[in-house]
Parts: sequence; structure tokens; C-alpha cells
Amino acid sequence: MNIRVEKCIAEKYPCELLLLFSFESPEPLEGPIKSVDLEWKGYLSTLISQGDFKGELFQCRLIHTQGGLPARRVLLAGLGKKEEFDLEKWRGGASKAGQFIRDSGIKQFAFQIKPFKDLSGEELTESFVTGLLLGTYQFNEFKTLERGKIKTIEEVILLGETDKEIQSIGEGARKGTIISDAVCTARNLVNGPSNQVTPTLLVEKASQIAKDHSLEIQVLEVSEAEAMGMGAFAAVARGSQEPGKFVVLEYNKGKGLDTIVLVGKGITFDSGGISIKPSEGMERMKDDMSGAAAVLGTMQAAARLQIPLHLVGIIPATENLPSGKAYKPGDVLKTLSGQTVEVISTDAEGRLILADALTYSLRYKPKAIIDLATLTGACVIALGDHVIGIMGNDDALLKKIEEASRTGEKVWQLPLWDEYFDYLKSDTADFRNVGTRAAGTIIGGIFLSKFVEKTPWVHLDIAGPAFIEKERPYIPKGGTGVGVRLLLQLLRDWNKS
Ligand code: BES
Ligand code: ZN
Ligand code: ZN
Repeated sequence: MNIRVEKCIAEKYPCELLLLFSFESPEPLEGPIKSVDLEWKGYLSTLISQGDFKGELFQCRLIHTQGGLPARRVLLAGLGKKEEFDLEKWRGGASKAGQFIRDSGIKQFAFQIKPFKDLSGEELTESFVTGLLLGTYQFNEFKTLERGKIKTIEEVILLGETDKEIQSIGEGARKGTIISDAVCTARNLVNGPSNQVTPTLLVEKASQIAKDHSLEIQVLEVSEAEAMGMGAFAAVARGSQEPGKFVVLEYNKGKGLDTIVLVGKGITFDSGGISIKPSEGMERMKDDMSGAAAVLGTMQAAARLQIPLHLVGIIPATENLPSGKAYKPGDVLKTLSGQTVEVISTDAEGRLILADALTYSLRYKPKAIIDLATLTGACVIALGDHVIGIMGNDDALLKKIEEASRTGEKVWQLPLWDEYFDYLKSDTADFRNVGTRAAGTIIGGIFLSKFVEKTPWVHLDIAGPAFIEKERPYIPKGGTGVGVRLLLQLLRDWNKS
């Protein structure tokens, strides 16, 4: 989709389709829809007063202008009640209008953006473009039979009236495009099957991002990671024929900026290993690298947005499979931190590879570490698939993440109280990798907390929202790319407070 900005007003602009938004019961009309109505001799206000368009949230109504306007068609798109309007509804509205236009087979549309309430043209444009691009995302890479039938919007023209408006619309469109591209990078990786999206492919993707945006990249083979002392990561990787990789991406290295480390769980397929999962639904476990995908997307966009921070993205990537070489329940592993872990379940592999990645991240002396992982099924039980479970050792960092979640990526904090440590006591090693069935998500967080020392750290359990079965206003079903916009918002806000 090509998005460009032009200086013109809606009622004068010739195009395939002119998009006009309206609140519920929108009388009197205001903004571009009012000017269009005047130019069109009251056609729209008549239609509205006759009850033919009510402006309900996500309602769409297509009208042929029959020469009444330079535009060939008009799409009226509802935003619901004015007093309930927020950027999340706005993103949804942009998406629903975009989906309607695409599904109608229309390839081009124009839309005039006007600052509204306390929202600037830039903010409105960024959210509009984000909703539009994310809502019209499709994953068709392997659909060979339907290739000719796939519909796409080719061109969007954002209209602004003054030079100042044009400037801020252009800026908003640029940022919205970069952010959405990053989310789609993550979604493509999550939706890709595990026979394609291997640790090696994650390395290729990371190398491409590094090459395109001049990031530093370092890739450790499992044998190298093991020689360094990453006994936990190496143990998980041992059961698979597909070579594991430990990837480190670095942006703005050596510039004296604050360092933030992002760690993403990169299990490209989680069978459970020797503690094998039930086969029903196991195909979903291709999404167990959603944390890694979010880190890659975030690094890509952070570089394109030139965020003034030193960012390190760490991705331990491997499959978790059973085999004659696989690690086993009862095994004791020595982690990079020197602490030992008794394996109770080989299906609690995420925390093992993350343990070594978290310890590794300490060498950068970061101001903060944030890890993202599809860590526990218990998080889906506790919070459902709309919410990220967050846990950490630093209230200020947790608060920053809560503030960043105005992107619509909901977060809910779970406690890491001392009492929970008891569940991880082991008779043979420093701790076990699982507790009882109780407080599964918290125990995962407690385990990870043993590997960050005193560094401010937050763990995001994205097991619920990483992959959804039912579409949302601007999130089609499948891999969601959750975490990318949240992290980018956090990083963009970083130097503001
Ligand atoms: N990748 C899974 C967690 C998961 C499960 C994510 C379902 C999304 C949906 C993780 O590696 C795992 O298997 N965790 C175990 C932990 C248990 C053994 C303590 C789980 O959740 O059952
Ligand atoms: Zn597992
Ligand atoms: Zn897993």
C-alpha cells in the first residue's frame, strides 16, 4: 500500500473513493464531512436525517456520487459516540474502513485529516495509518490456489489543507508506516510455519535488519554458547537436528546513550520435548518464538525511527524436541550465572533459554531489561488472550510499561512476592524449573528473576495475546505482533520523563 500526502480539501479532490468519518447522530456535521455536504448540496445531511446512516461504531456505507463530487464514491464510516472516542477506536475505525474498501475491490482512496479535540494531525495520522495497515494485513504466503483473488488497496492519499497540516500528516504517516511494518515483520514470523521459521531463518531475518539499518549483529552457535557457560540454552537445543542460534543485535553501540536490553523467547517449535505436549493443538506451538519476533520488529523500527537509545536485542533461538540426545526430566543444568537448575519438565524450556539470555544481557550494564515470552499456558488461563501478564523487580519500569500500553496492548501486573520462591526449591540443585500447578505464570517470573541480579527488569508473558483465534478491529486472527508497539512506545517515551 502506497501512502502519500497531498495539499487539497476533500470536496475538491478527484479519486476512486473519498473516506469520510462520522460520529453517531452527527448533527450538526463538522469538519471535512460538513464541507463535502455543502458542496454536495446537502446530500449527506439528508441521508443522515432520514436515518440511512447512523454513524454507529464501525458502520460503513458506500455511496456513488454520480457526478455530485469530484470523487467517484464516498464511504461513510461510523466512529460511534463522540464522548467515547479514543485512539483505539480510531485505529479500529481506520481498519474497518480499509477492510471494507479492500473487500469492495476498490484500489485507491483519499482521506482528509483535520486536527480534532486535543489530538494533533500527526497523532491522528499515525494512529490512522497504524489501524489501516495492521487491519488490512493478510498472510497469504502459502496460499497458491487463491493467489489471483487476493484484493489489496494500492494507494492512499492523505489530504491536508495547510502547509503545517501537510507537514504533520507526513510525519504521522511516516511513523505509522514504520511501526506497522515492524508489527507485520513480527506477524509474518509468527504466522510462518516452523519448517520455514527455523532459528537459522531468524538469523537471516536479523542479519537483513542489521544490514538495512547498520546494526551490529553477533550470532553464536550452540557449541559456542555452551563453551561460554550457557548450559541451560545448550540443553534445550540439544534435542533438535535444527541448529539453535543465539543472536545479539545492537543499535547505537558505543554512543554513550542509555542501554536497554530486549530479550525475546525464540522457541521456533515447542513440542514439550521429552515431557511431550498432547498432540491436539500442538500446531499452535509454532508461535513460541513470538517474543523473538517482537524483539526483531522493535529493533527494526527503533533504528528507522532513530530512537536515541543504545538497544540490545537478544534472541536465544532453538526448537524444543524429544530425541535420543534431548535433555530429560531430572537432569541438572548449569546456567551461565553459575546457578544450577533441576529439570522437572522439559516443557518449561522457555525460562531455561531466557535464564542464560538474561545473564548474558547483564554484561551490557543496562538501565533496564525487558523480556518477552510466550512463557506459560497458565497466563492464558489467568488473563485470557487480550492481556499481557507483566512482572518485574522495579516499580518505575513497570509503571512506564503500563503507560506505554495506551497503544491498546493491555497489560496486567502479577506479584513476585518472596513466598513464591518456596515453590522452586530443589533437593539436588539450586532450584527446579517448575513449581506445582499453582501460580504458574508467577513461578515463571520468579524463576527468571533469579537471573537479572539487581538490574531493573520486567518480564512480559505474551502467551495469551501472541496469537488469536478470533479477529479484533485491527488485528486479524493469527500472529498479532503483540509487544512491538508497546516496546516502541516505551522507548519513544524513555527520555521524556
Ligand atoms: N510455550 C509454552 C507456553 C504456552 C502454552 C504458550 C500454551 C501458549 C499457549 C511453554 O513452554 C510451556 O510449555 N509452559 C508450560 C510450563 C509448565 C511445564 C510449568 C505450560 O504452560 O504448561
Ligand atoms: Zn514448553
Ligand atoms: Zn515454550
